[in-house]
Amino acid sequence: MHFILNLQIPEICETQNGKKQRKRSQFNKVDFFLYHCGLKLKIDMARIFLIGFMGSGKSTYGKLMAQKLNIDFLDMDDYIEKQYSKSIYSLFEEWGEEQFRKEEKNVLRNLPVSDNLIIATGGGTPCFFDNMEFMNKQGETIYLRTSVRELRDRLMHSNKKRPLLLDKSLKDLEVYIADLLKKREAYYLKSRYILETDDLNPNNLISSYLALKEI
Ligand code: S3P
Repeated sequence: MHFILNLQIPEICETQNGKKQRKRSQFNKVDFFLYHCGLKLKIDMARIFLIGFMGSGKSTYGKLMAQKLNIDFLDMDDYIEKQYSKSIYSLFEEWGEEQFRKEEKNVLRNLPVSDNLIIATGGGTPCFFDNMEFMNKQGETIYLRTSVRELRDRLMHSNKKRPLLLDKSLKDLEVYIADLLKKREAYYLKSRYILETDDLNPNNLISSYLALKEI
């Protein structure tokens, strides 16, 4: 059986006569406890930006997290593809990377953001303009940190057509990832939280997220 609870709204935590009102931090502990009892939660006021390299699992974990927290999910690449009715690959080909980054910046600023939403960004989104600062102001940023080896293995088996990886042989892939990640980490590390993904799985995803927030 699933309950949908909205424990972070203060009103529902008052007693009938309104005398007792617990602090928000206590609700967080209750959230955590109930989650581990198998109850489905609705976390209120969560606007989360997932940040990380291609293959770090932003879309996969984002969808799963949204489902488990009972909030919405938006994938920026999918959103861009729908907006322009073209694949990211075609847009890169047509515009070149510079133009793509400008459009990506505009899309980021005009996303239909709500308070209960997880957004999977593109791997390059945080690394251009002041996108990282923008996201930090708009919500919680979480960097899904993944080792080069793990990224290589995931990207090798991925079906997604990624313009930046297209001409890379398997041999070149690891070196390319290591070089680009080194440059990009300075941006990724501006995230509010860091979630290591090498050992992340559907079973420990939410407890790992709540642990980041010290709930
Ligand atoms: C890019 C990552 C891609 C996509 C585009 C550029 C990047 O998204 O936005 O191909 O620069 O790292 P994913 O991180 O979802 O693969």
